[in-house]
Amino acid sequence: MAEIVIVPGEAEAGDLVAGAIVDLIHRKPDAVLGLATGSTPLPIYRALAQRIRDESVDVRGVRGFALDEYVGLPAGHPESYRAVIRREVVDPLGLTPELVRVPNGDPAGIEHAGADYEAAITAAGGVDLQILGIGRTGHIGFNEPGSSLASLTRVKTLTEETRLDNARFFDSPDEVPMHCITQGIGTILRARHLVLLAFGEAKAGAIAAAVEGAVSAAQPGSAIQLHPHVTVLVDEAAASKL
Ligand code: GLP
Repeated sequence: MAEIVIVPGEAEAGDLVAGAIVDLIHRKPDAVLGLATGSTPLPIYRALAQRIRDESVDVRGVRGFALDEYVGLPAGHPESYRAVIRREVVDPLGLTPELVRVPNGDPAGIEHAGADYEAAITAAGGVDLQILGIGRTGHIGFNEPGSSLASLTRVKTLTEETRLDNARFFDSPDEVPMHCITQGIGTILRARHLVLLAFGEAKAGAIAAAVEGAVSAAQPGSAIQLHPHVTVLVDEAAASKL
């Protein structure tokens, strides 16, 4: 059973998770963080940047692995997750850029990219703390409904709903790529601690299915029930269907 924490708002969730990450870094200066993109984790990154500055936390050895990436965006596109992770995480937190990896979404060599990423995570000793958001479809990373619960990092097709949800980051919905490369559900489940966050009513159905629904590939978030150490942080609205 996951630990469910209902928080007043996003800022409180960000503070709680930032505190857990700072404690982890004190215990393990080369901690391996699993990094999520999207709007949900931004309060964590903001709070963490503040704590790192205020408390002069040494983060030079901290390593990171992003969950996912679009396939086929031009190099340097500002909405590629490589660029987003650099802008929202690596630079504000002062992490060492070479120690933070994002799956390689370049179509040239894409057939090796999943296995390479898995090997890099394994070589790093696995992820200590994985930050997760959840999509309205119930996706974690970009594992849309139907993804095998044992899946590893691979190329997937985005659902129309997810492309529309993410169109807000692009000039037009047509610009949202059709494909992505994402850690699999099996990859995510190997992290030692999963921290899933969700805010707002639009996420209430996905949260209820993840926390109390049947464990099924039809609801990728439900895979968290297979993991022994999960913390779910939600506001009242996202918790409203629990
Ligand atoms: C995105 C990401 C996911 C994220 C989810 C929710 O497309 N690939 O990792 O958790 O969808 O996004 P948001 O936090 O913006 O609602």
